[in-house]
This record gives sequence, C-alpha cells and structure tokens, in this order.
Amino acid sequence: MGITAIRGFNDILPSEIGKWQFVEKTAREVFEGFGFSEIRIPILERTELFARGIGEATDIVEKEMYTFIDKGGSSLTLRPEATASMARAYLEHQLYTFDPVAKLYCIGPMFRYERPQKGRYRQFYQIDAEVFGVGNPVVDAEVILMLIHFLGKVGLEKLELQINSLGCRDCRPRYREGLKNYLTKKSFQLCEDCQRRLQTNPLRIFDCKVQTCQEAIADAPRVTDFICAECQSHFGKVKEYLSVAGLNYVLNPKMVRGLDYYTRTAFEVVSYDLGAQNAVTGGGRYDNLFQEIGELDVPGIGFAIGMERLISLLPKDKKLEQQLHLFIATPGKGMDEKAYRLANQFHLEGIRAEFDYEGKSLKSQMRRADKLKARYVLILGEEELKKGRAVLRNMWNQSQEEIPIDNLIDVLKRKILNN
Ligand code: HAM
Repeated sequence: MGITAIRGFNDILPSEIGKWQFVEKTAREVFEGFGFSEIRIPILERTELFARGIGEATDIVEKEMYTFIDKGGSSLTLRPEATASMARAYLEHQLYTFDPVAKLYCIGPMFRYERPQKGRYRQFYQIDAEVFGVGNPVVDAEVILMLIHFLGKVGLEKLELQINSLGCRDCRPRYREGLKNYLTKKSFQLCEDCQRRLQTNPLRIFDCKVQTCQEAIADAPRVTDFICAECQSHFGKVKEYLSVAGLNYVLNPKMVRGLDYYTRTAFEVVSYDLGAQNAVTGGGRYDNLFQEIGELDVPGIGFAIGMERLISLLPKDKKLEQQLHLFIATPGKGMDEKAYRLANQFHLEGIRAEFDYEGKSLKSQMRRADKLKARYVLILGEEELKKGRAVLRNMWNQSQEEIPIDNLIDVLKRKILNN
C-alpha cells in the first residue's frame, strides 16, 4: 500500500457522513434554540494558553499535546480542547462589553497524543458548548438540561448523568492535602506515574487505570466531605434545579475530570454500551480559568461531547445513509445526451441523480443503480419515449409505473423530496 493516514487519525467516509451531518445539524438546532451562538476558533494556539488554562500537571499538558516551534520561534500547540480557546476569544474580543453573558458553541477537531484504541483517537471531534459570565447554579442545570435534551434528540438511550462537586480555590487545597496524606500511607501501591502525581496533583490518581492505584484510592476521602459551605450550597442548588427539570443523576464522588480548571460542578454522561472509553460527554464549571489566562474574573461552565463516541452509539437509521434519489437508465449505446440533460435539470431541483457515462448495457446500469442504493430508476426506453413517457421503477418496493415526460420534474419532486 502507498501512503496511509497517521495512526489515530481517521478518515470519515461518505458512507458514514450522513450521521455526522445529522448530529451537527441537530446540535446547531438545539443549541441555538437555547440561545447559543456558534464561534469558530483557530486550531493552533500559543502553547501557553493550554499550559496555563488546562494545568501544567495534567496528562494533556504533560504528555498529550502536539507542540512544535514554528518558523518564527513561537511554541504553538494543536488545540487539545476548545474551552481555553473560547475563553481567550471572549477576552480578546471583549465580548463582555456587548453582554456579560456569552453562550457559545463550537464544533471541530481536537488533537491529543494518546494511545489509540476504540473510542480514543489522536484527532477526534468535539461539540463544545460554554456559558461565560454566570455564577448562578441555575445555569449549571440549564447547560446539563440542554445536553441531555440534545443526546435524546439524536436518539441516544441508556445513558447515565454523573455529577460531582470539586470545590473551589478556597476549599480544594484542603481536600488535596487530605487526599495526599491518605495516599502517602499507601504510596507503595501506586504506579510510578501516580507516585509523581501524589506530589504534583494527587486528584489525578482517580483517573489512573492501574489496578493497584484503583485499589489504593478506592476508600480515599471524598471531595464532597471537604468542600466549603458555599460550594455545598451551590451543589445543593444544582441538584435541586436538575430535579425541577426532571433530570435523573447519579452522584459520583470519584469523578474529578482530567483538566485542572474545574471548580464546583463537574459532570459526565457515560454509556454502558461504550466499553472502557465510556464517557460521551464531560464538562463542568471553571470559575478561575479566566484569571489563569487573562485578567478578568469571569465564571464559566460548559461541556464537550466526543463525536466519534456519540456516533458509535446512534441507532441504525436508513435515512442517514447517503442515498441516491434517482438513477437515469438509458438502454441505447453510448452516453445518452437526454440523460445528461435530465440529470442537470434534476440537480438544479435538488434531486440527487446519477446516470451512465460509458454506454453500458441496461442490465449493468440496473446493477449499478442497485449498488448505489438508488430509490428510483427512471428508464428512458425508446418505445415509451415515442409516446412521451418514461418508466419509473421504485427500487424499494419494486413497483413500476409510466409517467409523462413533460412533468417528470414535478412528479419526481413530489415523490422524492416530500418524503
Ligand atoms: P474531556 O473530558 O477531555 O473534556 O473531553 C470531552 C469528551 O471528548 C470526552 O467525554 C470524550 O467523549 C471526547 N474525547 C476526549 N478525548 C478523546 C480522544 N482521545 N478520542 C476520542 N474522544 C475523546 C474537555 O475536553 C473539556 N474541554 C470539556 C469542557 C467544556 N469542560 C467545560 N467545558
């Protein structure tokens, strides 16, 4: 084989693209219905943005970023996530001068140098939604409600919403200390990475997949036992607002999320159909991120959905497979000019039509129509054409009818585009 794609970088082929387009279209409709606007941000940013935003002592920044020095000597990084870039754009363009509250979404590829496996790639797509400028816990519930509504709308079932509170700048250091003291006594059980994490960022040990580390942390103190009264009250209200909206959730005190910017509410939506990489969505509140990357004190909350994981869970739907509306079959020899002219007219009306370019036999044209999953075949037979008619064959139920050539477009539009 010649040159192949890079490991962990996938092509999304035409046979799959219908699902992607459906998911993106639904996200736009649902999010815009909730008052969100799209923002498009660059794929490359200054490395410092992610180092400061996501946190130096996270797996992403320590080992997963695609970082390089450009020809001008600047250190740049392919974005591993979108939140920090969206926050940068909000500050850089002073979106807060228009309105302090910004509701933004963004769809696009992210890059992380992780070990590829099912559901984990080096280039993957996220749908990301963020609210900047609201500290009120009601928005935490609103954002989660929008997410669950969207996941339902694309047809996902058997999902579980897990929530936790990670405390704030005031109370989390106490938890970190408590956790560190607890784990220091068990440090002999920790893998080499976690021995280091114990010093730099003990919360990250929750995410380690090594069995002995999982055992060491199984009965560790819970963050929710350490958080301050204000964080308790915030979390209490989030739970209350979720219940008001009729949303079920599971408390998961071990969910700490892999990025350091989180404060207070953290959440994930997991699917038990996904195997090891079971999080379809992760998100939470990050009330200090803006201070890390800029000078303003702006609260924020949002989530990102992993599109590959989401799409792998979609129920099968024939409508989402790209299908040809119509194959124009011509029994004569050579490329048929009538077919060419008709195809042009159909295309202008949005009817996806294909015809034979090579003068193949009618039988082989019918085989091709079948392979292309054409819904109808229009057969331009000599005899019928003389009578000003053509044969229209419905490939779904194999029925056949003659239709007048003069109002072909109207008949086909009605049949194809209206259902
Ligand atoms: P995250 O948990 O790192 O959060 O990623 C969010 C989602 O992206 C995951 O739940 C997963 O579905 C998908 N994902 C992550 N890494 C990969 C990968 N290597 N391959 C395939 N899918 C992947 C964030 O990125 C935060 N920025 C989310 C956020 C937004 N928090 C607040 N606002």
